[in-house]
Parts: sequence; structure tokens; C-alpha cells
Amino acid sequence: MNAATAWREALASWAIPQPILDAAPEPPWVFPVELFASRADASTATPDVTPSNRRALEALTEGGSVLDVGCGAGAASLPLARRARLLIGVDASADMLAAFAERADAAGVASEVIEGVWPDAAATAPEADVVVCHHVAYNAPYLDAFARALTEHARRRVVMELTATHPLSTMNELWVRFHGLARPDRPTADDAQAVLREAGLEPAREDWVADGSGGFARREDLVAFVRLRLCLPATRDEEIARAIEPAVQLRDGRYGFGGRRVATLWWPGYEARRAT
Ligand SMILES: C[S@@+](CC[C@H](N)C(=O)[O-])C[C@H]1O[C@@H](n2cnc3c(N)ncnc32)[C@H](O)[C@@H]1O
Repeated sequence: MNAATAWREALASWAIPQPILDAAPEPPWVFPVELFASRADASTATPDVTPSNRRALEALTEGGSVLDVGCGAGAASLPLARRARLLIGVDASADMLAAFAERADAAGVASEVIEGVWPDAAATAPEADVVVCHHVAYNAPYLDAFARALTEHARRRVVMELTATHPLSTMNELWVRFHGLARPDRPTADDAQAVLREAGLEPAREDWVADGSGGFARREDLVAFVRLRLCLPATRDEEIARAIEPAVQLRDGRYGFGGRRVATLWWPGYEARRAT
């Protein structure tokens, strides 16, 4: 089996069994704007740059443009605002795009937003000097086509950040505890790298630990988020709160689960590829 098919099948194995989905009071797959807005705010709160920011800044000349795919509230691109002329955000969620545009305004950088699902949205997205895409890969079953479309929109470089293991794997023990269900352990960042290689993109890689900044202002909202993901009713909140208590961290006034191992993958954009 090739790496792209293995990626797609491993992602499909995360499907929640239909009887659990049918009993869920709400859809489990939402991305809460508060969580990603606080990530974006934390990303610009300190002058420190992450390995992903550093790789993007290396390729971004003064006054250049950045395309942020699956931008959320802008955690991947806002740290580049001091050098960029324009940030373009693509996201499937209009609420995320509103949070992104508000933060770009506050940072004093021009922005454009495109509501749509990548790579379909690629047809209406402009090219940029640097394309960044953080924490979206595990939402992309066709990662090869997804990454090729990123490359076709990047003149100089693509920078992708993803967790070393599936973002939901931190809840695997909770699935066993509340549903008696073992969850998968693939795909991983290694698998993503294999897909990119197979697509001829030759990514470089740096592994590091992200500090886990961002989260919920109220502990009960973190509990509600976990409850949603686990397809449980609000009547289980006390039990959920007890189960997650040892892992909960309070950081800069926000409740979350702390740091995670992540990988930064970067590769040349289409102009840089032509030049080599
Ligand atoms: C986990 S969040 C990451 C947000 C941001 N990049 C960050 O690092 O904080 C994933 C975001 O990507 C968006 N998204 C997921 N799949 C997408 C796709 N195929 N095309 C466009 N947006 C997508 C979601 O709406 C969400 O805002």
C-alpha cells in the first residue's frame, strides 16, 4: 500500500462508531473559536518565535505575503505580521476567519479571508511568498493533493506544523474509560512525512515540544469541550472533570492540557523548486 492510501485509511479508522454518534447530544467535531483565538493571542504575546515561525521567516522577505491554510484565528501567520505586507487566511469556518481578520487588523497588517475547504478552495486562493499550514494535516484524508495545492500556491516555501501523534490521541484513555473503546495510534507525523516524500516534496523536519499555550478561560468550558469530543451528555461532567483533573494545567489564566510533541515540516515552493 502506498503512503497516501495508508494515511487515508489510518485517518478513516478514527471514525466514531455509529451507535455512539447517534447517541451524542451534539456533533463532536467542532473547533471552538475560543480555543484557537487564545492560541493565536498567545502566539503573538511574546517575541519568541517557534521553529515553525523561524522556518517561515527565513523564506519571507520584507513586505512579502503569507497564505495561512486552516488559519483558525491566525496562530501560524500572526507571528509573521511584523515582516509581511499581507496575510491571507483560508478556513472552512466563517467564525474563525472573523477572529483571524480582527487579529490581523489589531497587528496592523492587511488581510484577506477565503471561506472554504482546502484543497477545493485553492482555486480561489492567490499565491503567496510563504504558505503556512498548522494543525490541519490530520483533517486532510487526501494529504498528497492537499500538500501539492499548498506547494502550487507558495513561491518560496511551505511550512507545515503537526502534532507527532494524532491530536485526539490525548483522549484515548478517556475513550477506554467512558466507552470501553480502544482508539487508533496512527497516523503520525512520520506517516505525513512519508506521504509528502511520496508526492515528491522532500520535506525537511524539526521535532520540538510546543508549550501548549491557549485554552479555556473557564475550567468548565474545558470539561464541556472534552464531553463534546467524547459524545457524552452534560450529566457526565463531574465524572469527566475528575478524570481529566490530573492532566489539566492552568497557564496564563487558561485551562488546557499542556505541551505536546510537534513536528515542523518545510519544503520549497514552486519558484524555489524551479530554481534548484
Ligand atoms: C486545529 S485548528 C488549527 C488552527 C490554526 N492553524 C492554529 O494552529 O491554531 C484547524 C483549523 O483548520 C480548519 N480546517 C480544517 N480542515 C480544513 C480544510 N480542509 N480546509 C480549510 N480549513 C480547514 C478548521 O476550521 C480550524 O479552524
